[in-house]
Amino acid sequence: MKKIVIAFVLSLGAYVQAQEQKNKMQWFEDAKLGIFVHWGYYAVGGITESWSLYHQRIGYQEYMEQGKGFSAENYDPDDWVELFKKTGARYAVITTKHHDGVALWDTNLSDLNVVDHASAGRDLLTPFVDALRNQNLKVGLYFSLPDWSHPDYEVVFPRPETRVFFPQKDQETWEPWDRYMKFYTGQIQELQNNYNPDLFWFDGDWEHSSEKWRSGILKEKLLEYHPGVVVNSRLNHHGDYSTPEQGVPVVRPDGPWEFCLTMNDNWGYFPSDTNYKPTAQIIRTFSTVIGMGGNLLLNVGPKPDGTIPKEQVERLEALGQWIEKHEPAVFGTTAGLPYGHFNGPTTLSKDKTRLYLFLFDKPRHYIELKGIQNKVKSIKVLGTSLDLDFQRNGGAEWNNIPGILRIETPQEGHLDEYITVLEVQLEKPLVLYRGHGQAVELNL
Ligand code: GLC
Repeated sequence: MKKIVIAFVLSLGAYVQAQEQKNKMQWFEDAKLGIFVHWGYYAVGGITESWSLYHQRIGYQEYMEQGKGFSAENYDPDDWVELFKKTGARYAVITTKHHDGVALWDTNLSDLNVVDHASAGRDLLTPFVDALRNQNLKVGLYFSLPDWSHPDYEVVFPRPETRVFFPQKDQETWEPWDRYMKFYTGQIQELQNNYNPDLFWFDGDWEHSSEKWRSGILKEKLLEYHPGVVVNSRLNHHGDYSTPEQGVPVVRPDGPWEFCLTMNDNWGYFPSDTNYKPTAQIIRTFSTVIGMGGNLLLNVGPKPDGTIPKEQVERLEALGQWIEKHEPAVFGTTAGLPYGHFNGPTTLSKDKTRLYLFLFDKPRHYIELKGIQNKVKSIKVLGTSLDLDFQRNGGAEWNNIPGILRIETPQEGHLDEYITVLEVQLEKPLVLYRGHGQAVELNL
C-alpha cells in the first residue's frame, strides 16, 4: 500500500511539473513570430558578427575600433517596436552581448560596453526593453556564453592584453576559469536585475561542456529568480525549446521550437550582402514553421546609427500585411496535419474545428484534402470570404475510409499574391484517418 501511495505521489508530482512547464511555455507557443535583432560593432565595418575575429579577417584592435563609428544617433526603439508589432511579432530577442564581448547595456563588470567604449556613449538596451514592455511585446535577451574579449577566456585568434576592460582587480589570485564563471554569471545577473526578461536566448554553449559552464546550476538560478523565464536550448540542453537555425526543419522537431533566420545571409548589418530572400520565401517559411508548430524568429541587422535597412523594413511590412489578412490561420492555432493529407502547410484552431490550408502555388483543376473523417460545414477563402464548393469523392465512409475532399479552385481575384489560405470549417473536432487503406468489407 505504502508503495502505491509513493508511486501515486511521484506521478502526481511529475504531472504537476509537466503542467507547470506547459503553462510557462504557453505565451511562447502562441507567439508564432519573434524578431531577432543583431546589433553591434560589426555593423560599422559591415562584417561578420564576431566570427570575423575568429577567422582573422580583421585584427582584434581594428575590430574594436569600430566602436568609434557605433553612434546610435538615429536610434528610435519605439519605432523599431512599432514596426515589429505591425509585423505581427509577439516578442523580440536582442543581442545584449555577442561573442565579441561588447555589451549593449551599462555593465559594471566590463568597460567594453557601448556607454564607455562606443561613440553612442549611452545604454542602448534599457530604452529597447522599455519600448517592448510599453507595447506589450515579450522581452528576449540574447547573451553569448563565450566572451572572446575576456582575458580568462581562451580564444583561437591573436589578441592583445585585454585586462584593461575588466575591473575585477580583487580576483587576481583566483583560477582563471573561476574568474570567468563569476564574470559571465555576474553579467547574466545584471541582465536579470535590470530587465527581468521573459526569455533568455543563450548562444555558444558548444565551446564547453555543461559541467564546465555549470549550465544546470545556471538554469536553476534563473528559475529561482523568475520561475516563468523561458530559456532556449543553447545551454547544453538545459533549455525549454530547440533552436534550429537557417535551414527549415524537414521533420517537425520534438517539443516547443523556434527557427531563427536571416533575411540575407548575415545576422548583422552587411551592406555588401544583397542576397535577400524574396518576401514570398519569407512568408512560405513562416507558414511552414507554424504549420509544424514552431515560431519564426526573423532577424534584422540595424545599421550603426540605429536605423533598420530598408530591404528589411520592406520585408517585415509585407509579412505583416499578409499575417493581418490571414490572422485566424496564424494566431490561436497549433501545428496542422501530418504529411500526406495536404500538399502544403496547414494549421488547426485550438478547438480543432477549423483547419487552414496554405496554398503555395496556383491550384489547377481542384484542391485536394485527404483523410478527413469529419463532416465539413464550409470552406472559404481567408481574407475574401469567398465560399468554395467541395465534394467528397471515393472512399467508403461506412467502412471508415474517408476518400478525398475535392475543393473548387478559387477564381483569380481571390488568390493572394503570396499564399492563399482556405478555412475548412468542420462540424466537430478533427478526426483523421491515418491508415494505409484496406478492403471495403461491406459494400452498399
Ligand atoms: C550562431 C552564431 C551567431 C549568431 C547565432 C544566431 O550560432 O554563432 O553569430 O548570432 O547563431 O542564431
